[in-house]
Amino acid sequence: MKKIVGTISLFFIMLVVVTSCGNNNGTNSTATNDSTSTNDSMQNTTKPGVTSADWGESDGKKVFSYTLTNKNGVQVKITNYGGTVTSWMAPDRNGKKSSIVLGFENLQGYLAKPPYFGALIGRYGNRIANGKFTLNGKTYTLATNNGKNSLHGGNKGFDKVVWDATPATGDSATLTLNYLSKDGEEGYPGNLNVTVKYTLTDADELEIDYTAQTDKATPVNLTNHSYFNLTGDVANTILDHTLQIDADRYTPVDTTLIPTGKLQPVAGTPFDFRQPHKIGERIDQVPGGYDHNFVLNGGGSVRRVATLTDTLSGRRLDVYTDQPGVQFYSGNFLDGSIKSPDGKPINKHAALCLETQHFPDSPNQPGFPSTILQPGTTYHTITKYKVSVEQ
Ligand code: GLA
Repeated sequence: MKKIVGTISLFFIMLVVVTSCGNNNGTNSTATNDSTSTNDSMQNTTKPGVTSADWGESDGKKVFSYTLTNKNGVQVKITNYGGTVTSWMAPDRNGKKSSIVLGFENLQGYLAKPPYFGALIGRYGNRIANGKFTLNGKTYTLATNNGKNSLHGGNKGFDKVVWDATPATGDSATLTLNYLSKDGEEGYPGNLNVTVKYTLTDADELEIDYTAQTDKATPVNLTNHSYFNLTGDVANTILDHTLQIDADRYTPVDTTLIPTGKLQPVAGTPFDFRQPHKIGERIDQVPGGYDHNFVLNGGGSVRRVATLTDTLSGRRLDVYTDQPGVQFYSGNFLDGSIKSPDGKPINKHAALCLETQHFPDSPNQPGFPSTILQPGTTYHTITKYKVSVEQ
């Protein structure tokens, strides 16, 4: 009898363990490891909301893959490793869904340090010259990871840390991520408490809402480094995509991609995207390809700043932001050494980034808008990427 009672209790304990396993923060998650696409499709429902799957561990912290689903059945996957957007399944003009962003189906892909695929970038997006800046009379030395410059936060930027994640409950497709960047991390002053809220809206927008507070003055420039290919197939380059950017000026750079400090008119140059142009049309006139910050017109509030279209799939991407700049990067350093989940090499120009941001190297450029966050104030910025189809 004792044995039967023991066996029954053991059964119930196991049942509780099995049903609660993988349930993070009370979401309707499963214990499935979605490291393969087969598991992915089994795990995901098209019910609006957030589901989660165990993705392993990094730095002793649990990593999850979260699937945000809106009422149209569009799904965006985000992992709390680097706050990274790993997939965005969007329909083409025939309703066929494929991912319009570069990404991997497991944590290992990201631990191999791809060039910031889909990641949150911080503490400072893009380059700071010579990894140095002076603030309130003190010179700070940052980790240099791009020749003599510091790029995207240094050796271990926000793209390589595990964020604390809180998925929304119910049918809202929101994931809130939090990370405390310690005073001195990668050379930056002040404890910076960062919260990033990703929401997949029913209008098929991925809204990224960033807030941060500090206890010492520090430069802050946060962005997302998603690489888009609207055809959904990396075998096609983005050279046939058409781009429009609302920018009358851009910031020319030196050979190490540090701005010269000038705000140069785009008129009469291959940087003039005020009217839509195919990316491949004038790229040969830009040594190395596009990797430049565009000075966006208007400002202060969230406005549409760029539109990318692809005639092959009919997909269209509109970018909205309150930021003063956007880094248009045409995937120049992609070289085929990384493979997509379907085994295709990710070649040069296989995808592009539109990183909404403050201008590169602002802490050393008195003529650029300030990126210094003061204690007692809140950094707050919103960017939205909206996907639609044109017939
Ligand atoms: C940004 C930079 C590029 C490059 C990529 C990542 O877009 O401006 O120069 O470093 O990130 O490879």
